[in-house]
Amino acid sequence: MKTTKILVLGANGKTGRRVLERLENNTDVEVRAGSRSAAIPFDWEKPETWQAALQDIDVIYISYQPDLAIPSATTAIQLFSGLATQMGVEKMVLLSGRGEKEAQVCEEIVKTNAKKWTIVRASWFNQNFSESFFLEPILAGYVALPRAEALEPFTDADDIADVITASLLEDKHNGQTYELTGPGLLTFKEVIAEIAKATNREITFQSLTLEEYIQMLREYQVPEDHIWLVNYLFEQVLDGRNSSITTDIEKVLGRKAKDFSAYALETAKTGVWNQTVSQN
Ligand SMILES: NC(=O)c1ccc[n+]([C@@H]2O[C@H](COP(=O)([O-])OP(=O)(O)OC[C@H]3O[C@@H](n4cnc5c(N)ncnc54)[C@H](OP(=O)(O)O)[C@@H]3O)[C@@H](O)[C@H]2O)c1
Repeated sequence: MKTTKILVLGANGKTGRRVLERLENNTDVEVRAGSRSAAIPFDWEKPETWQAALQDIDVIYISYQPDLAIPSATTAIQLFSGLATQMGVEKMVLLSGRGEKEAQVCEEIVKTNAKKWTIVRASWFNQNFSESFFLEPILAGYVALPRAEALEPFTDADDIADVITASLLEDKHNGQTYELTGPGLLTFKEVIAEIAKATNREITFQSLTLEEYIQMLREYQVPEDHIWLVNYLFEQVLDGRNSSITTDIEKVLGRKAKDFSAYALETAKTGVWNQTVSQN
């Protein structure tokens, strides 16, 4: 039997790293890590790297950087998925964002260009609080955010990676669009309270308007393109439109999605929320 060759983009990222780990334990597949620092480098901003990364690949996990909502994403996804099919790729699994209109345009491009596809739309990840932009304010003990009242079904990256891995390996997921959420709805304030409880630390939460938040990011000299994306996410996605839960994780995996308290307890044990922050 021919070994399936799978390219995992964002291979050092929150979902890609987990998908790679799962596939590396599977002897029926050969995996190629898609990363700017891989032996065969892949860079969304350098289309000249795409062809070598796609050579001999059968199946791809596409996680786009930084987000499918940015204006240049449609062109990149159009060119990349077109090239992939032209080079013999049989199937694409796309990570998309739940409730993001712009991401849905990219989904349609993949659905048109790929021979077989699965779309995995995820809600906000739990791991944004431990492996991404919210880690630093948590370590500093002070988290100030807008949309404090919106209820979000935060989803665990381990569950997302399990669904993506199944979709990469099993034909029964072809042609499916999954919407992944955690099993419960929480506000940002409740999330921070859960993390404070799990770590036995004091973490202050302050509610801001979106304008105050953007102003604060500017004062911290966050790059303008990142501010654009943050503004988009809080204005267009984290406004309560995703305040509902789905059972797609359970449907695909045959078990319940991980809840936020379990994630908070497990993550607290790793010590990631107890590092000391340097005071400059
Ligand atoms: N976070 C959420 O809550 C959430 C929710 C729904 C959907 N999403 C979607 O998830 C996707 C991101 O997935 P993720 O969170 O698993 O990834 P991630 O943790 O953001 O992964 C980032 C990885 O992407 C690579 N990268 C950065 N710039 C790149 C470039 N120009 N070309 C190629 N690779 C680049 C980096 O690896 P190297 O340095 O190794 O290249 C980095 O490790 C985005 O499309 C986002 O919209 C996120």
